[in-house]
Amino acid sequence: MSGALRSVIRGSGSALPAQCVTNAQLAERVDTSDEWIVERTGIRQRYIASESETTASLATDAARAALEDAGFEPASIDLIVLATATPDNTFPATATKVQHALGCNGCIAFDVAAVCSGFLYALTTADAMLRTGMAKRALVIGAETFSRILDWEDRTTCVLFGDGAGAVVLEAQDADATRAGIIASRLHADGAQHDLLYVDGGPSTTQTVGHLRMKGREVFRHAVVNLAEVLGEVIADAGVSVADIDWVVPHQANRRILDATAKKLGISEDKIVVTVDRHANTSAASVPLAFDAARRDGRIQSGQLVMFEAMGGGFTWGASLVRL
Ligand code: UT7
Repeated sequence: MSGALRSVIRGSGSALPAQCVTNAQLAERVDTSDEWIVERTGIRQRYIASESETTASLATDAARAALEDAGFEPASIDLIVLATATPDNTFPATATKVQHALGCNGCIAFDVAAVCSGFLYALTTADAMLRTGMAKRALVIGAETFSRILDWEDRTTCVLFGDGAGAVVLEAQDADATRAGIIASRLHADGAQHDLLYVDGGPSTTQTVGHLRMKGREVFRHAVVNLAEVLGEVIADAGVSVADIDWVVPHQANRRILDATAKKLGISEDKIVVTVDRHANTSAASVPLAFDAARRDGRIQSGQLVMFEAMGGGFTWGASLVRL
């Protein structure tokens, strides 16, 4: 009989649209300013997809980069879990488009919808499937084109988001043979908070795609409380202390949320990976985008303890502790 399995991150990759839009450029379209956006959010620029760049194309580029980083052939992947709230089509799952583009036809492929916590939900789902032996190698992708669901007349939301994709490759390994892998994860949802962050359209209600609507100040308040709570749960489950954590890779919604959460937990600010200044809020893509950026610039290294966390529409929220 085989022993316990653990899901180990073997590679990461990311992709951004070609077009970068600065706050100053946005201020030419809507009544806002670079000063307001930087002071309230920390965002300086975001990437916006062209017509030819879609959630699937960005996801495919990120997944390809992650496979190259891992040194794995696409055909060796037997599970693709793609987190998105902006799929190419209502159906089929964008994951199946990515599967075909990569050339790993035949493997399990599906999307998960948990908005900004989507990557945490996808990672945890893939981890559970790897540990039960349903698959051996998984691509976990967060990919979004939120620019397509923004109300460009609404300055309270349109300045906050960007497009992009990030991916990791997981492999099931014998837990006795490695210290690396996903150690503990927790996920939560609270459907009672629907109206604080949602899209006002959909196939079953309006038959339109709809636009993102958010009561930002209230989301902010819930985010800091929920994130601090779930981080505490994962730290306790894993039996580690805050000081053991080398890096926190948070969902990149607002620099002030990152700082407030870090302060609440007593994690030093220089352990927080921040990319919200460059990418803005890319929803499900933000955690794997930030993770890949910090791995590639040499900050996050093999053997280190890394915490992922996110909170988003639903509400949904979660955290996951991983040793690289
Ligand atoms: O990814 C999912 C999770 N999402 C989040 O975590 C988002 C959480 N929320 C936030 O990040 C912040 O609440 C925002 C960045 C959305 C807003 O910051 P805030 O400090 O909560 O500002 P506010 O909404 O209270 O607005 C303050 C003022 C208002 O004017 P008055 O009513 O005080 O006169 C707004 O009309 O700022 C005004 N305002 C703007 N001004 C210039 C709102 N948006 C803009 C803008 N440019 N883009």
